Amino acid sequence: MNSETCLIIGAGQAASQLAFSLRKEGWLGPITLLGAEAEAPYQKPVLSKEFLFSEKTADDIAIKSTGAYEKKAIHVQRHAVVTKIDRAAKQVTLSDGQQLHYDKLAICTGATPRHLTIEGYNKANIFYLNSFIDAQSLRSMISVQQPKKAVIVGGGFIGLEIASSLRKLNIDVTLIETESRILARVSAPEISSYFTALHQQAGVNIILNTKVTAFKGSDTVSGVECDNGAHFDADLVIVGIGVTPNSMLAEEAKLEVNHGIVVDAKGQTSDPDIVAAGDCTVQFHPQSGRHLRIESIQNAVFQAKKAAATLCQKTIPNEETPWFWSDQYQTKLQIAGLSLRYTHTIKRGTNDKFSLWYFDGEQLQAVDCVNNPKDFLFAKKVLTKHLPLDQNKLKAQDTPLEETCQSELEPV
Ligand code: NAI
Repeated sequence: MNSETCLIIGAGQAASQLAFSLRKEGWLGPITLLGAEAEAPYQKPVLSKEFLFSEKTADDIAIKSTGAYEKKAIHVQRHAVVTKIDRAAKQVTLSDGQQLHYDKLAICTGATPRHLTIEGYNKANIFYLNSFIDAQSLRSMISVQQPKKAVIVGGGFIGLEIASSLRKLNIDVTLIETESRILARVSAPEISSYFTALHQQAGVNIILNTKVTAFKGSDTVSGVECDNGAHFDADLVIVGIGVTPNSMLAEEAKLEVNHGIVVDAKGQTSDPDIVAAGDCTVQFHPQSGRHLRIESIQNAVFQAKKAAATLCQKTIPNEETPWFWSDQYQTKLQIAGLSLRYTHTIKRGTNDKFSLWYFDGEQLQAVDCVNNPKDFLFAKKVLTKHLPLDQNKLKAQDTPLEETCQSELEPV
């Protein structure tokens, strides 16, 4: 292992973590991150939030400083677009023709926003938000053109966080969602209702059960048309309708791909010399009995740590409970676990500070916490250790959380 080369395709959260974890686990050979973008790895969560009304640069939101990479002898090659993985020759080809050898390869290529290809899709002032460049373009459009009316397509995390950011700038916002409620992918109706009211109080016009069918205007968008005949004026449109995994390179290299690069619990792909981590992967999830693609920072970091341990033939870290967060206005949503399958929920707390506990029969599946970090920490611990909870005690609002647990639990 001493002089082996590890190439990491991608330069996002998972890639950066994998490189540093490799060094921590004792990898001594060369490590190179191959990133298509001009920037060194940066934090994405801020892009839909304060970044939009700040003057932050890519350096300000970097995951690690340039010095930190140098200190660990991790080479970050920017503008490096990988076009091919040759597994037999153990080399990758870049778009400029360069060919690089690897002994071990890590694929951390992330995901790409789904695009709308409806009439008028290529007009100016229609934005997607995934990369630093996307966020910088949106920020500069806002500051130069000072838009008055925005339409946001999609009521998921991106759409809602941007709605909150735009309202802070006093821009009129209409948010259009195809489903019958916002946040339907990740949460129960109670959470959707809470966030719908929050956004409505802030002045957002939320339109449900509706599809955008055309972007109107000349070169620049001036409005959107919907399948129910409604029209909304807009001098700015932002689309956040989900992502698709960047698994094409893996597919072309004949690795196992099934709506994402298939990895096992150790981060291994179907090739023993190739690991993968982050939004580009799917992994079997025992609790739900199927392969899942988990789009979160926590998952990217955790899978990267496991993949690094695998490459260094070290012990894999213990399984973690997936967790997520979202900041909208002054409200923080924290989610522990996955609420894909549940029979009922139990709510604890008040209107503005509560937690929603998802059970599949006796088994706790997930907990959504609104402005309630204490419940979130408790929930994470209970889910990680698979501790049984007394649901009657949980329902009794005045029972302290610690007393709802039927096993020994250290204080939160
Ligand atoms: P998402 O999957 O969270 O939400 C997409 C929403 O768009 C869904 O509500 C869906 O029903 C709706 N939709 C789909 N097609 C539509 C259409 N044609 N018209 C109107 N609505 C439509 O994906 P989103 O918000 O784009 O986020 C992308 C990625 O970024 C996700 O992986 C997300 O987890 C991540 N992200 C996470 C954040 C966080 O954890 N705080 C913040 C921002 C992004």
